[in-house]
Amino acid sequence: MKRIGILTGGGDAPGLNAVIRAVVLTAINRYGWEVIGIRQGFDGLLSGLPTVKLDELAVRDLLLRGGTILGAVNRGNPFMRKLTKPDGTSEMVDVADEVLRRMDDLKLDALIAAGGDGTMAAALRLVEMGARIVGVPKTIDNDLANTDVTFGFDTALVTATEALDKLQTTAESHDRVMVLEVMGRNAGWIALTTGVAGGADAILIPEIPFSVEVVCNKIKELFANGQHYALVVVAEGAHPISGEQQYLIKGDAIYEARLGGVGYLVGNALQDCTGAEVRVSVLGHVQRGGQPTPRDRWLASRFGVASVQFVAESKWGYMVALHGTKIAAAPMKDVIDIKRVDPQGEMVQTARSLGIVFG
Ligand code: F6P
Repeated sequence: MKRIGILTGGGDAPGLNAVIRAVVLTAINRYGWEVIGIRQGFDGLLSGLPTVKLDELAVRDLLLRGGTILGAVNRGNPFMRKLTKPDGTSEMVDVADEVLRRMDDLKLDALIAAGGDGTMAAALRLVEMGARIVGVPKTIDNDLANTDVTFGFDTALVTATEALDKLQTTAESHDRVMVLEVMGRNAGWIALTTGVAGGADAILIPEIPFSVEVVCNKIKELFANGQHYALVVVAEGAHPISGEQQYLIKGDAIYEARLGGVGYLVGNALQDCTGAEVRVSVLGHVQRGGQPTPRDRWLASRFGVASVQFVAESKWGYMVALHGTKIAAAPMKDVIDIKRVDPQGEMVQTARSLGIVFG
């Protein structure tokens, strides 16, 4: 009998609980193994938080629950942990050995780490030090390389499209230009798909630096042709051709910079150049919360089951992935790069054929 651990790292995503459930049920039903939950990602191993016994009863109601019952942190890199010294100063320390020690103390035969690029990068380095870890990809941004899709993305897309649909009805009533800022740090998957699904007139994504004039001219043209409102979707990481990404809070060695503000930058510029009334909505973490869609529950369940199979096959350093319609094994070293929207690709061309501009 094996004893396996599971943790959820990075930002949460709808479907993580469905992964936990699938791991536990597969481990118990198919292999007769025991599963324990590690709280707060790798941080939980380091700070010695109590673990959670995961049996069939514990995961009974998890399929439709958003978030993660194990908790997640996006500062859990064991290779760079902030140590505050008694004199108040701090330094970055590598405490990866401690993770391996704690896994031994817990008598873990293997660890399943569900997370994004940061979690996979840390997991890979731990595997190189001898840890037995397999990965499960998650991010609402859908920007992990070497898997066609991640769970959480479909839920975010549904939430963002609903928001755009709602903005459309009020935009129409008031003859307004509505700007919707959605998540998407380095990749514009949410913005692109939401914009197409919700009938946007312009979509601004990190992969295509924009010129506000192009959007402005598009809106003026629409208005001249009798359309009296317009919808613009902006990814939080989009930036002007000759400008930077917009940040609310600067980052440091532990925390990534917090993006935000590009929606207002675009909205103000559009108001000035079109003369139309413009309103800006920032969707924020609403798109990361709530019940996973059936599609995300299905994908998360497949990933969870496959990750236990990977443990049975000793596929250390591999991440479960979806290639086409099939589950595949992606080496963690190949998933650390970001998967971006191809500016020349079919998806952008599809949007352009529908008359959508990208600035
Ligand atoms: O999950 C990815 C993501 O949603 C990014 O698009 C966003 O920039 C980031 O997480 C925000 O995360 P947090 O506010 O939890 O740091």
